[in-house]
Amino acid sequence: MENRLNHARLVSSLEKLGTIGIREDGKRYRLALSDGDKQARDLLCGWIKDAGLELKIDAIGNIFGLLPGTENGDPVIAGSHIDTVPNAGMFDGCVGVLSGLEALRTIAEKKLPHRRPLAVAAWTNEEGSRFLPGVLGSSVFVGDVTLEKALAARDFSGMTAGAELNRIGYAGTDTLKACAYLEFHVEQGPFLDAEKIEIGVVIGITGLSRWDVTYKGEANHAGTTPMNLRHDPLIAASKLHLAMSAAAAEKNAVFTIGHMEVAPGAVNVVPGTVFFTIDLRSQDRTVLDELHARCEAEIRRCAREVGVEVECVPTDHADPVSFAPRMIEKVERFANLRGLSNRRMGSGAGHDAQVFAPRVPTAMIFVPSIGGKSHCPEELSDMKLVCQGAEILTDCLLELANE
Ligand code: GLV
Ligand code: MN
Ligand code: MN
Repeated sequence: MENRLNHARLVSSLEKLGTIGIREDGKRYRLALSDGDKQARDLLCGWIKDAGLELKIDAIGNIFGLLPGTENGDPVIAGSHIDTVPNAGMFDGCVGVLSGLEALRTIAEKKLPHRRPLAVAAWTNEEGSRFLPGVLGSSVFVGDVTLEKALAARDFSGMTAGAELNRIGYAGTDTLKACAYLEFHVEQGPFLDAEKIEIGVVIGITGLSRWDVTYKGEANHAGTTPMNLRHDPLIAASKLHLAMSAAAAEKNAVFTIGHMEVAPGAVNVVPGTVFFTIDLRSQDRTVLDELHARCEAEIRRCAREVGVEVECVPTDHADPVSFAPRMIEKVERFANLRGLSNRRMGSGAGHDAQVFAPRVPTAMIFVPSIGGKSHCPEELSDMKLVCQGAEILTDCLLELANE
């Protein structure tokens, strides 16, 4: 099959977007609804308008570029996100949004026939690094989370998503629905690169459970308090970390404590309070349920063992999802038609596609992440393969729009 897209334009859009949100220390921070996110949104909206697409923004700040078809109805949507984790790379999410944009630019320019409308989407707060839960914009879009609850989500400093959305000027009034959903993404894991396979045909997405935990013990003098008289909440957290990391490893699941605050935080004071987040994932529903229950029990057991108080708030839960066989086959068929090596695989990362899968035909396409690195500045993918993934995305979009 011939290439249809303007690869140079896709690569330069990706590189341009990647320059946004870089702090003075050279690190990329484009957390949801921050000034950097606003700048990235402004750039994307400009490109959507330049492409002659209809710009739409909904009440949770999801951005759409809509291309009408010859028939009315809900669009086939190609989406992902442009918010980032702290100290991020430039591929996660952006590859999907800008490939969707490039697909629609090309379809409009070349007047490629399509009966159904098509849309590119950038979903608000996919990462969940700032506001919980993650995949917030897409969850409001499908009705899994109410707008009211989403706007009330608070970041670590107490700012609400609603106030931040208003501040950056992205609280819109448009509404939209999807008839099918496609998401192209970098793998973010090690398998495709290690096996030198060009395309990942995604069959489903991991489930996850998240908690905020606070252990309260007794702050005391680090020099005078004997070990056996301490109620050190960091010891409870450490026991929990080791116990759950081992439990997860045994079940081919993953357990992460990614954020921790130790107070009062001085070299010569036994900690009085420890706050931390937990992220637990498995692609197997039975395993996730079992480890979820185990984790809640361990949180309490470790607190009891050390004699500290515990406060535990569940912050997110998503069941593992599977994509429809005919959508999986579609991606696989186009990868084969383009002569690209491919294999079926699950996604260990969360994606907006997980909220669409139970509702509309949904598929995801992966390209390799070099060295399996992601959520870090070393995140890198081969631009030639990114462009090939974008071609497959376009193949699928056009076929779905004409089915
Ligand atoms: C999103 O990138 C996630 O999987 O946490
Ligand atoms: Mn992502
Ligand atoms: Mn991510």
